[in-house]
Amino acid sequence: IGQDSVEVLGHSYPRDDFTNVTPKILAKVGRNLHNQSHHPLWLIKERIKAHFYSAYAAKRGNPLFSVHDNLSPVVTVEQNFDSLLIPPDHPSRKRGDNYYLNRNTMLRAHTSAHQRELVRSGLDAFLLAGDVYRRDEIDCSHYPVFHQMEGVRLFSDIELFSAVQNGEELSLFESRGRRTPQKQEAHSLEAVKLLEFDLKQTLTRLVTHLFGEDIEVRWVDCYFPFTHPSFELEVRFQGDWMEVLGCGVMEQQLLDSAGAGDKAGWAFGLGLERLAMVLYNIPDIRLFWSQDERFLKQFRVQHIQQPVCFQSLSKYPPLHNDISFWLPESEDGRESFIENDFYDLVRSIGGDLVEKVSLVDEFMHPKTGRRSQCYRIVYRHMERTLTQQEVRLVHEQIERSAETELGVQGRF
Ligand code: PHE
Repeated sequence: IGQDSVEVLGHSYPRDDFTNVTPKILAKVGRNLHNQSHHPLWLIKERIKAHFYSAYAAKRGNPLFSVHDNLSPVVTVEQNFDSLLIPPDHPSRKRGDNYYLNRNTMLRAHTSAHQRELVRSGLDAFLLAGDVYRRDEIDCSHYPVFHQMEGVRLFSDIELFSAVQNGEELSLFESRGRRTPQKQEAHSLEAVKLLEFDLKQTLTRLVTHLFGEDIEVRWVDCYFPFTHPSFELEVRFQGDWMEVLGCGVMEQQLLDSAGAGDKAGWAFGLGLERLAMVLYNIPDIRLFWSQDERFLKQFRVQHIQQPVCFQSLSKYPPLHNDISFWLPESEDGRESFIENDFYDLVRSIGGDLVEKVSLVDEFMHPKTGRRSQCYRIVYRHMERTLTQQEVRLVHEQIERSAETELGVQGRF
């Protein structure tokens, strides 16, 4: 196993100037929490499957939606971005936000990366669950690996308008239409309104099935390059609104490129951890990776619809330590320091001991113009009390690595 390649799931990928996956992240590939019997993410996935199986039947009572949960998280950059009409200069492609194996290959940042290939294979209705990878801030609801469930449903004009009186006279498409906030140029307004209604009804039903009638939800307009119009669904959780899914009417150009240009459809992508946190009252996203029996055994229900009454493990006390440094100076005046590089470094060394990292202070030296930042790192173990001594060791290692790897100058 050479230094000049990255090994993932038995394949070898040559490193280049884009490679930024870390060993800690690679160690998560293949864990497949969503396929581990009785893991809370598996349980949520099973409940969503069961709901779609029973609520939507095709001919002869067969399930309408097929389910896919074994697609490799290693995808091409083309699948993750280009296939979804995400422009070459789009900010979501940044090295600072994604895990690249090299310039052409990455760990998928969303399950939408598989939309085009599954549509191309002839499917009209499918669900797809998988692990996804994103570099991000560190707090109780963000973790660089999480799980999504994608849903896609396509309609021919007969299918979409069958319930409408004199529906034969309606058409999915119009030839000289314009793009407006309500619709794409190719679509008729009637088609879009029905698709949007079906999409929102499908998701509202799902959420009520999972959470019961009392859950408070709201729809928010938003933007994705691969859907229009686009929406987010937010659920009320501990007094705040929490985004649990993104969705919209699929861009017709995507369907054209997948050989389904005679159909129109909707797509959604929902976050399984977010749903599970709300449903079971799980206070911290790191718990999903816990091997602690006191956590896992609570989800071993006889039947997937049996309610789980999650007893939050009592939280052990946190310890916090600050770290301050001068940012590296660069000749061309561009910042060579990326915050997500620091978060990754903290994760690589501190692992799951780190609960939260926040920028608490920042200033510029009036004479030299150099910038200094101070971060607060909150350490907490999910299963025991940490000692100041062991945290000190980890913290000092973070200080040293920040200097050698990121070129900052410590003010420790
Ligand atoms: N892929 C989007 C995300 O991860 C969610 C999404 C899926 C939006 C499908 C629209 C349609 O944020």
